[in-house]
Amino acid sequence: MEVVKVDLREEIDNSYDIVIGNGLLDSLAMELKKVPANEFAVITDSNIAGTYGKKLINSLKKENIDVHLITFSAGEKSKSRKTKEKIENEMLRLNLGRDACIIALGGGVVGDLAGFVAATYMRGIPYIQVPTTLLAMVDSSIGGKVGVDTIHAKNAIGAFYQPKKVIIDLDFLNTLQKNELSNGLAELIKHALIKDSNFFHFLEKNIGKILKLDSDALKTAIKRSCEIKADIVMQDEKEKGIRRILNYGHTIGHAIESSLNYRISHGNAIAIGMNYAAKLSAKLGHLHEGSVIRQNNLLEYAGLPHKLSHHKLKPRKLLEHVQYDKKIINGRINFVLLNSIGDAFVSDDVAMEDIKNILEKG
Ligand SMILES: NC(=O)c1ccc[n+]([C@@H]2O[C@H](COP(=O)([O-])OP(=O)(O)OC[C@H]3O[C@@H](n4cnc5c(N)ncnc54)[C@H](O)[C@@H]3O)[C@@H](O)[C@H]2O)c1
Ligand SMILES: [Zn+2]
Repeated sequence: MEVVKVDLREEIDNSYDIVIGNGLLDSLAMELKKVPANEFAVITDSNIAGTYGKKLINSLKKENIDVHLITFSAGEKSKSRKTKEKIENEMLRLNLGRDACIIALGGGVVGDLAGFVAATYMRGIPYIQVPTTLLAMVDSSIGGKVGVDTIHAKNAIGAFYQPKKVIIDLDFLNTLQKNELSNGLAELIKHALIKDSNFFHFLEKNIGKILKLDSDALKTAIKRSCEIKADIVMQDEKEKGIRRILNYGHTIGHAIESSLNYRISHGNAIAIGMNYAAKLSAKLGHLHEGSVIRQNNLLEYAGLPHKLSHHKLKPRKLLEHVQYDKKIINGRINFVLLNSIGDAFVSDDVAMEDIKNILEKG
């Protein structure tokens, strides 16, 4: 027998900067001149296309940058293989080649979808994240998880594919609806809860200012939140270990989303999930009861629920959804818990029975 070895160990530098400031959309043309690409495709949704999309295209065209606008209907329903195909067909029709670069202008739906197109178009072209929702700024635009939903599961088809740059322009938040701001705050507060008690304290003191879009408070909060996510991603890009703590509140949160058929926002669902996760942490003797109250007070101040009435959400139904989602071995599952505010860990030994009790108590 003969063996031919294909030796492919490679060292890849996937580093990139996250730039945070005001009025950055106006100076984007200068940034793009530094990118080694000959053409750009701005991918965005139907809510943003007519405003920020047009503005961006006009400012790039003024600088003689070759740019195309590609849009799809706003909403999670569009995060599908069907929309991906449509975008790809449009890019092929425009004759975009390997020297093209994608600009993902929008919330998490645009970022996940456009990033996934970038990952597979011509076997991978560069892309830049320009997040326009708070959730996308502090969470989805960082870390390179890109993908689409299927009828069977959310985010089931995708890739790890890092952007070349993330450009966070706080001015976008001026037009964001309050409930969308709260949605992003759920992930931002989650970052403080899992990694940084000082940051949590800062949020307790400044949440009023943040809700009023005070520029300094927002900038500090967004920057710290990005640092926490980036730091975790740097340690574990492919989610084999520590990156799993980013799923704090998400086990029950996902179960709530799927049992309500996604008629609840992700931020609201994980806020409720964090309530249960904190209560479970306390019940298992890790977290102080007072910390559960502090967590829930901050979530409430940020406009987020921490409960849903039992007639809306039956604990038994929720448990079924947890069971779909998770591997259960001897009645036990993996679950992200808190030792204290700012210190999360993954327990691989949480009893389904304890989760059931917490859900029933509410
Ligand atoms: N990749 C990741 O690591 C990751 C992490 C968290 C969430 N996600 C994904 O992110 C998605 C949710 O993202 P989202 O909450 O940003 O939702 P979204 O992209 O649907 O945006 C929410 C709504 O706000 C509108 N909008 C966006 N920017 C606006 C602005 N500046 N002014 C006014 N309206 C604006 C959008 O058109 C949309 O209607 C989900 O699909 C989720 O799975 C991904
Ligand atoms: Zn989330």
